[in-house]
Amino acid sequence: MASNKTFTMIKPEAMAAGHAGKILDLILSKGFRVVALKYTRLSEQEAGKFYEVHKERPFYGELVGYMASGPVLAAILEKDNAVQDFRALIGATDPAEAAEGTIRKRFAESKAKNAVHGSDSDENAAIEGAFFFSGREQY
Ligand code: CMP
Repeated sequence: MASNKTFTMIKPEAMAAGHAGKILDLILSKGFRVVALKYTRLSEQEAGKFYEVHKERPFYGELVGYMASGPVLAAILEKDNAVQDFRALIGATDPAEAAEGTIRKRFAESKAKNAVHGSDSDENAAIEGAFFFSGREQY
């Protein structure tokens, strides 16, 4: 059975461009409920740990540096079929390939600076949510 929670971050370039309010509004309008929300900034060490699964990829260094370059808005979201429905809402990793109406189509700059993160599985949603939020920060 699909889990009902996913994890997201509004990434530094979308925060700097002032898109956070519009992105959050779009997410809420699609029926996601906020379980936890935090405005924070990752150190390079924390970003490296968060993206450890990608450490062998050629873009890992760029990804870590970018994700530590400015504040992010991290959230746990709840909805039936949350992981899959949220990935559909954000669109493809590369905004050039993202469908019309998706968050990345509207707000992402590039494959690297792609506006939002969305968990790729129920297991990773739980791991990523726990990376940012304690139990008493989730409601
Ligand atoms: P996200 O889905 O949040 O998690 C992995 C991230 O790696 C992805 O978003 C992109 O931001 C980044 N990424 C994936 N492919 C590339 C690439 N070819 N070059 C730079 N960054 C990438």
